[in-house]
Amino acid sequence: MNNRNILITGGAGFIGSHVVRRFVYNYPNDNIINGDALTYAGNLENLRDIDGAPNYFFERLDITNSEAVRVIFKKYKVSDVIHLAAESHVDRSIEGPMEFVMSNVVGTVNLLNAAKEFWTAGEHVFHHVSTDEVYGSLGDEGLFTEQTSYDPRSPYSASKASSDHFVRAYFHTYGLPIKISNCSNNYGSHHFPEKLIPLMIHNILNNKPLPIYGKGDNIRDWLWVEDHASAIDTIFTKGRLGEAYNVGGLNEWTNIELVRFLCRLMDEKLGRQVGESEKLITYVKDRAGHDKRYAIDASKLENEMGWKPSITFEEGLSKTVDWYLDNSEWVNQVTSGSYKEYYKKMYGNRT
Ligand code: NAD
Ligand code: TYD
Repeated sequence: MNNRNILITGGAGFIGSHVVRRFVYNYPNDNIINGDALTYAGNLENLRDIDGAPNYFFERLDITNSEAVRVIFKKYKVSDVIHLAAESHVDRSIEGPMEFVMSNVVGTVNLLNAAKEFWTAGEHVFHHVSTDEVYGSLGDEGLFTEQTSYDPRSPYSASKASSDHFVRAYFHTYGLPIKISNCSNNYGSHHFPEKLIPLMIHNILNNKPLPIYGKGDNIRDWLWVEDHASAIDTIFTKGRLGEAYNVGGLNEWTNIELVRFLCRLMDEKLGRQVGESEKLITYVKDRAGHDKRYAIDASKLENEMGWKPSITFEEGLSKTVDWYLDNSEWVNQVTSGSYKEYYKKMYGNRT
């Protein structure tokens, strides 16, 4: 299909930048509009390589402002939305939930309202990008499926669950053509060093303590960000309207095993003695309400559309570390200024 005007919100963030790049290259006949407020997590450096592409447009857009959202829909005759803009870090949501309510819930409803107002004829898709954290926390057994009841437990996951409910409600009430994807934890290049993997890479490089919350036995299911972008492309293109699809790669790790693995990988890449980086591991006060385990069953997406992750965790992590080693300028830029204050506030009194 040609000449769509696809608004990608949050396109300057970690996952959004990978999705924008993919769509700009894969769909040269469509216009890709990146609407992003450029919060601390948004960075146009993430997209420098596609800056001059003829089908790429950037708009500084705060989705909490309903009128600003309407202006973008009108200006670009937006035909489709891939919605990634959100406050995304659980620890920040514990410190201040209201920004999460505003961007994740109110912002989503503003976008839904604009789509409802402007999409009166023709074919459209509103793809809402969400998280597996809406399902709550698993015990030792089982996986989240699309049938798992919602049971969000952090302010972040509560805000994402709420946004998912609004998206579904607009399908049932107004017939808005929606799709939802719920993905597990992502890792890869351009990841802001507040989340586990990029924070640990940054600290290992700088010989700083590696703060493990609690006993380090919480489990996350990790997916390479490019594989999430390919899943979004697949669902956006081929997924059924009104449906939700889980996205994940059956790749569970306890935090401590993951960090040990990363330490060994980086010892090798940095020419350090085996075991040197592991000495930096420091157990710190646990996260409040820390979810024990996430694990995703993505068989609906795999069976219906043939999607599969393209690389192993070992390959993806190695590529990711190489990217951080090769892009110290990017890292220096995002860790200057307010990052230092954030780090002090979050980790200063934690031990
Ligand atoms: P991120 O924090 O790296 O980026 C979020 C982007 O949204 C930033 O560019 C930021 O500037 C923008 N943004 C925030 N508030 C905004 C607002 N009010 N108006 C416009 N733009 C705003 O997040 P991410 O990790 O790339 O996550 C993107 C999406 O994917 C989120 O919706 C998140 O819930 C979801 N998700 C993330 C993961 C993960 O592991 N990171 C996993 C599953 C789902
Ligand atoms: P995070 O990357 O914040 O993702 P999420 O909480 O959304 O899953 O955290 C991943 C896991 O790593 C989670 O169990 C919390 C843990 N963690 C640490 O042990 N230390 C840290 O400094 C961070 C940021 C996370």
